[in-house]
Amino acid sequence: MSKIGILGAGTWGMALARMLSNSGHEVTVWSALPEEVDALSSTRAHPNLPGMVIPEGILFTKSLETVCTGRDLLLFVVPSVFVRRTAHDAAAFMKDGQLVADAAKGIEGDTLFTMSEIMADEFGKAGLHGIRLVVLSGPTHAEEVAKDMPTTIVSASASLKDAEEVQDIFMNTCMRVYTNTDVKGVELCGALKNVFALLSGISAGLGYGDNARAGLITRGLAEMIRLGQAMGCRMETFFGLAGVGDLIVTATSTHSRNNQAGYLMGRGYTPEEAVKKVGMVVEGVNALPAAIRLRDLYGVEMPIVTALQAYFEGRITASDIVTSLMGRDRTTEMIGQSAADLMSRTLPERMEDTLQP
Ligand SMILES: NC(=O)c1ccc[n+]([C@@H]2O[C@H](COP(=O)([O-])OP(=O)(O)OC[C@H]3O[C@@H](n4cnc5c(N)ncnc54)[C@H](O)[C@@H]3O)[C@@H](O)[C@H]2O)c1
Repeated sequence: MSKIGILGAGTWGMALARMLSNSGHEVTVWSALPEEVDALSSTRAHPNLPGMVIPEGILFTKSLETVCTGRDLLLFVVPSVFVRRTAHDAAAFMKDGQLVADAAKGIEGDTLFTMSEIMADEFGKAGLHGIRLVVLSGPTHAEEVAKDMPTTIVSASASLKDAEEVQDIFMNTCMRVYTNTDVKGVELCGALKNVFALLSGISAGLGYGDNARAGLITRGLAEMIRLGQAMGCRMETFFGLAGVGDLIVTATSTHSRNNQAGYLMGRGYTPEEAVKKVGMVVEGVNALPAAIRLRDLYGVEMPIVTALQAYFEGRITASDIVTSLMGRDRTTEMIGQSAADLMSRTLPERMEDTLQP
């Protein structure tokens, strides 16, 4: 059994802490908020996970040094905006060669770094060049993990050995873990799917139905894949758990804050009001500026991102987003190819064609 330090005591951090503790691991949880540490350790309950009992075996600490010392695995689960600061502060207490997993999803707006790239950056600045970084991502709502419902997730690392080490720690009867070495693709999916989930929620808030939602998910996936291809990511990732899997769950589930926030925007709330009303991190709003910059940097057509950009910049209303997408020039899923051309090409070549704008 492993000694695990968890940095972040939000809904995802606490759902994973409970699961890992129940699988027999020794778990210590740190939070940046002292009052949160006091409340969690005394009530053994989390306000956003009703009914979940925090096992007595889980220890809480306000000390970064304590949570980082003597651990087989350090798991970072703070919202994306706090990852850089937390990695910077934690680095002072970490040893080189430490196994570290990140479960936060996002892309930093100004550097365009993914979460693991931010962490590698901060660890490197602290002279830690041998930290073994793994990313965890997939269709994993904390609310369901907290109830031991079957869940699948991806453990991604450039080192398959490190990904497998984390896979072994997280595998249990309720959680099935798949490895992946396309770290960039996994992290890109984890950040972008939240952006598309916002629009799925907006569409529902406007009163549109399942047809619109399915269309948005499918065309959102096409945008994710086009950008991922331009950035050199692997296509299997986008058709896997961290890609289409997480996109489906985030764009359809009532547990999704991105979906909920979008719904409120569709009902007429401003983005600021919607995020405030949801009351927890809405990573799609944080990730949109990065999606816009990546679109421009790689010259990829991303009509959904463009429509959301216009809405968030106050140039169009929520209902104009759907009107503008429906009113785009006619196009095809198989750009520039006749059926005969397509049939004369190999399957991988045809798949590439299908994913053109
Ligand atoms: N909730 C889920 O189901 C889920 C699933 C998979 C991935 N994630 C990802 O995990 C990350 C965390 O999500 P969450 O749902 O736990 O968010 P949350 O809104 O529940 O997290 C809030 C927590 O952030 C921490 N925090 C607050 N201020 C901080 C600061 N200044 N520095 C460091 N930490 C601070 C506190 O522990 C607080 O409880 C996000 O990137 C999210 O996308 C969440």
